[in-house]
Amino acid sequence: MSHKSKADSPLAVAVLISGRGSNLQAIIDARDSGRLNIDLRAVISNEPGARGLARAAQAGISNCVVDHHDYPQRVAFDEALVTCIDKIEPQLVVLAGFMRILGKAFVNHYAGRMINIHPSLLPAFSGLDTHRRALAAGVREHGASIHFVTPDLDGGPIIAQEKVPVYDGDTETQLAARVLEREHELLPAVIEGIARGRIRLEHGQVLVDERPVTL
Ligand code: GRF
Repeated sequence: MSHKSKADSPLAVAVLISGRGSNLQAIIDARDSGRLNIDLRAVISNEPGARGLARAAQAGISNCVVDHHDYPQRVAFDEALVTCIDKIEPQLVVLAGFMRILGKAFVNHYAGRMINIHPSLLPAFSGLDTHRRALAAGVREHGASIHFVTPDLDGGPIIAQEKVPVYDGDTETQLAARVLEREHELLPAVIEGIARGRIRLEHGQVLVDERPVTL
């Protein structure tokens, strides 16, 4: 699906968060500086106390909270989330530190128009605690990935990756900070690529400028 339909109309985006929201901030900053042509319509959180909600408020972006504690059934939570998201009719849904696992129906509903940022060089270290596990494994290279979301957790087609070196004696905090800095560049760049119709998913394959992505 290509988003480059109406000439230069900004891509309608919803960002889902659960916490700090530094990637959300990177998106807001890129938008404000004119590097990113998007209409950031809403920030949606499953955590009422997420710091990212304050960032959204500060930037004048409307928000919606779907507290997962209110939904003992996963399906009901997903449905409430869909209601919240679809109200603003986004062309792209960005999972930026959204820490809930989403059901198959939810994921399929946004097929080809939902991306996730993950702090590892996928397929290595999917799941949680990526930096700790990378250090424990003794890898010399680590990083971040952005992928289209499929029902396969952290397993959807990869759009882009950024690598960072791992240094002897690195702590988890140091490594996380090094990766996060790259995330803040990578995420706005990928969203811009999608907004310009340069990045898209076709038959399960990521195309960049009509060619299969090379990582
Ligand atoms: C990032 O490391 C992201 O890759 C992961 O969760 C973290 C979110 O950080 N999915 P923030 O909330 O954007 O600061």
